[in-house]
Amino acid sequence: MRQTVTIRKLQKAKRDGRRISMVTAYDATFARLIDQGGADAILVGDSLGNVIQGHGTTLPVTLEHMIYHCAAVMRGVTRAHVVGDMPFISYRGSEDDAVHAACRLMAEGGVNAVKLEGGRSIANLVARLTTAGIPVMGHLGLTPQSVHQLGGFRVQGRAEDDAQRLLEDARILEESGAYAIVLEMVPQALAREVTEALTIPTIGIGAGPDTDGQVLVCYDLLGMNLDFQPKFLKKYANLGEGIQQAIQTYCEEVQSGAFPADEHSF
Ligand code: KIV
Repeated sequence: MRQTVTIRKLQKAKRDGRRISMVTAYDATFARLIDQGGADAILVGDSLGNVIQGHGTTLPVTLEHMIYHCAAVMRGVTRAHVVGDMPFISYRGSEDDAVHAACRLMAEGGVNAVKLEGGRSIANLVARLTTAGIPVMGHLGLTPQSVHQLGGFRVQGRAEDDAQRLLEDARILEESGAYAIVLEMVPQALAREVTEALTIPTIGIGAGPDTDGQVLVCYDLLGMNLDFQPKFLKKYANLGEGIQQAIQTYCEEVQSGAFPADEHSF
């Protein structure tokens, strides 16, 4: 095993009050840059359905797609902890099929852990996976695989009873063996309450500053999706415009003959 950021280290980070940084990646080149940039964890998210495949939701992503991208990411990583998303289709049927899918993601994709969306409804499965030696990261709040049931990509847990239910789900996931939980698009006060109630780390996206860590989609934080500016997103670079500019200059130089110059020729 090459990874040096272990689950124990992530859990110790919570106890020590050191924030955890997680970024998504889908290929070896980005994974290497993110690993060298110092992220604690890399998520091979099923958000690849959006940013790689161009779908409007994550629902069409298959287990084969996830295995392919997880294996590519693993080839670029030497240090960070890597989590692979279980795609929607892989754990909505029998628990036996879901356990088999998680085993394939670990064995063929090579990741260190799997992530599943849901609370009490997947508690048995989480317990079975962890008993089988498969570390599970939970995911509560806005769970994009349930976008149709939730009625859109919107903040979750605003009403008091929804907030209570989410808090209970978080406790149930911890009791079932989850080692960390992503909290997506929940009010800051609820994210803080969940974080304080658990001994395992919470990793927020659109959940405010009080979670134990943060996760962002790499294409979003690098500013590669020009039209995407949700409230929670900070763009740390403007690569979208940079790439467009570079391509435009390349095209102009091919047209004008400025490229290739003598120094590029044999
Ligand atoms: O698929 C994904 O990238 C995710 C993160 C947004 C948490 O689940």
